[in-house]
Amino acid sequence: MRIDIVTLFPGMLEAPLAGSIMGRARVRGLVDIRVHDLRAHAAGRHRVTDEPPFGGGGGMILKPEPLAAAVEALKPEGADARVILLGPAGRRFSQDVARELARRSHLILLCGRYEGVDERVSGTVAHEELSIGDYVLTGGEPAALVVTDAVTRLLPGVLGDGEAPARDSFARGLLEHPQYTRPEVFRGVSVPAVLRSGDHARIARWRQLMSLWRTWERRPDLLETADLTPEEQKWTDGFRQGRTPADFLD
Ligand code: ADE
Repeated sequence: MRIDIVTLFPGMLEAPLAGSIMGRARVRGLVDIRVHDLRAHAAGRHRVTDEPPFGGGGGMILKPEPLAAAVEALKPEGADARVILLGPAGRRFSQDVARELARRSHLILLCGRYEGVDERVSGTVAHEELSIGDYVLTGGEPAALVVTDAVTRLLPGVLGDGEAPARDSFARGLLEHPQYTRPEVFRGVSVPAVLRSGDHARIARWRQLMSLWRTWERRPDLLETADLTPEEQKWTDGFRQGRTPADFLD
């Protein structure tokens, strides 16, 4: 998978992309991530990338031509590339979208900046606009990092066996069960006994139940579309009637 990120601030991206799992995946050749300076694609001696909006109002708007030129420069290698503009008005990024993007061979991520991006970029230069949530960032760089991280960790070989994305929160549309490590008691709170029982079947059932309970408590909206087993459906009906996980554990 190749990911090109076009930004006015390459320095904002370099350190995060060099560290941890993304850095390791790059070194191992599992993902080819390249950062490009938008200014290099702006015309003229002053390499202007933004101008005031037509119709007045404050702020500066990113011009379309430098973004188009940057994408054009990547075209020989990017015939199949999906070009995505990061901006708060885009389609909402999610685990499903990350999975969809991870199936592609090449992404070009365009970071918006300042008060906005010329509207004509969407639809002519970019195939779509993605937003990482309902809040406004100063620019698309953190969003490009979020998308790159979420997509990279889904690529084959990037995570070790023990970290398999199949167990993630959202993998089945539910939040992940709680996790504990040593010490057994921390500030008076004990690790649930079942996790120390060594009984793998009981542990698996507890985790499944707690994943559902956590989703019920924190993100009930996810249960509307989650793919539940008949037993999970029964537990959910129980929660609705005021039952708790303790009522379902032996
Ligand atoms: N740029 C500014 N805000 C953003 C958001 N919420 N998502 C993606 N890009 C952005």
